[in-house]
Amino acid sequence: MNAVPSLHINSERLLASLMSLGEVGALDGGGVCRLALTDADKLGRDWVVARMRELGMSVAIDVVGNGVAVYEGTEDLPPVMTGSHIDTVRTGGLYDGNYGVLAGLEVVATLRDAGVRTRRPVAVAFFTNEEGARFQPDMMGSLVYAGGLPLEQALAARDSDGLAAGEELQRIGYQGQAPVGRPRVDSFVELHVEQGPVLHGRGLQIGVVESVQGISWSEFIFEGVSNHAGTTPMELRRDAGYVAACLSTFAHDLALRYGGRQIATVGSIRLTPNLVNVIANRAVLTVDLRNTDAQALARAEAEVLEFASCTAAAQGVACRHRLLARFDPVAFETTVVDLVEQEAGRLGLSTVRMPSGAGHDAQMLARVCPAGMIFVPSVDGLSHNVREFTAPQDLANGAQLLLQVLLKLANRIA
Ligand code: GLV
Ligand code: MN
Ligand code: MN
Repeated sequence: MNAVPSLHINSERLLASLMSLGEVGALDGGGVCRLALTDADKLGRDWVVARMRELGMSVAIDVVGNGVAVYEGTEDLPPVMTGSHIDTVRTGGLYDGNYGVLAGLEVVATLRDAGVRTRRPVAVAFFTNEEGARFQPDMMGSLVYAGGLPLEQALAARDSDGLAAGEELQRIGYQGQAPVGRPRVDSFVELHVEQGPVLHGRGLQIGVVESVQGISWSEFIFEGVSNHAGTTPMELRRDAGYVAACLSTFAHDLALRYGGRQIATVGSIRLTPNLVNVIANRAVLTVDLRNTDAQALARAEAEVLEFASCTAAAQGVACRHRLLARFDPVAFETTVVDLVEQEAGRLGLSTVRMPSGAGHDAQMLARVCPAGMIFVPSVDGLSHNVREFTAPQDLANGAQLLLQVLLKLANRIA
């Protein structure tokens, strides 16, 4: 059983599966849109579940819509789990999340073709609404799985049209019966494209992920008074759009001022009534702050909040604030990090230890078991962009490394 000489993943099969899943919700001109719990997400789930069944895996859908497929081991032990997500942002690429799920299935296909059973079962999961682009918080399914968010709260999340996640989950037929958080897992390893410039820029093959930076997502709602853009003197305006613009530049400048790993993004501003000659009476904007340093992140949040309320007050504009998601930085278990590095070395792949800039399901699984991640290069560091691309050889390297890491974890004696 432990004498597994040399198993090789089938890189053509992996690439073909990525391209096929990429056709579900494909956008004209490239990329994919499978926002969580939409019809396209349902079709993507159907595709992945069918593939899991073809591989002879038992598939369970839990009450928050996570899908967990198990390839039995030789002993009745908690499984070693891999996986990621298949929902995308509105303008997503083919690799973000999908690669981790499909590479996990490629590992199982390789074991199956070779007739190999590991000591522990190998589970492959896709978690609901990792992106958080439609419903917040992000990493929703894995957070519920890890016990970090009550199920009812997740199901009650509403999108910008007021639709509830729970209703949408039922509508697409993916509110399963399985209890969330089962099976209990032995360990979790997620393979993902880096989504940033480090590996590609430095010509390295593998990122050994040591940690995930802290994330803070806020929504600010400013309410002023609509009036005529031509007749209202500047000093008499209660301009919600102006306050939103000030906050946007403040957040950007704050990140530059803090330096280090502080980043800030205002990715959404919605003005009402959004017309050229009308002062906006309402502005809703989001602020995404991230840092590997928990204290600096907390300081940044406090500064942004203070600036928003003072600037709004000075303009006669009301300010409301809602926290959409908040996660402290997460350090991965050193045993898993070391194992990834060691196995990459055995494959002759160049590595660097690095933190993750993006949020991932692995950071939630780290609450309940030893967890880690493997990154492969993203060309030009592009992601959340239809032009997201990872070279086939890098996809193959990552999947082969995942296979070896899972074999080590699943077959270990202790
Ligand atoms: C999830 O993709 C994130 O925004 O980090
Ligand atoms: Mn992702
Ligand atoms: Mn993403």
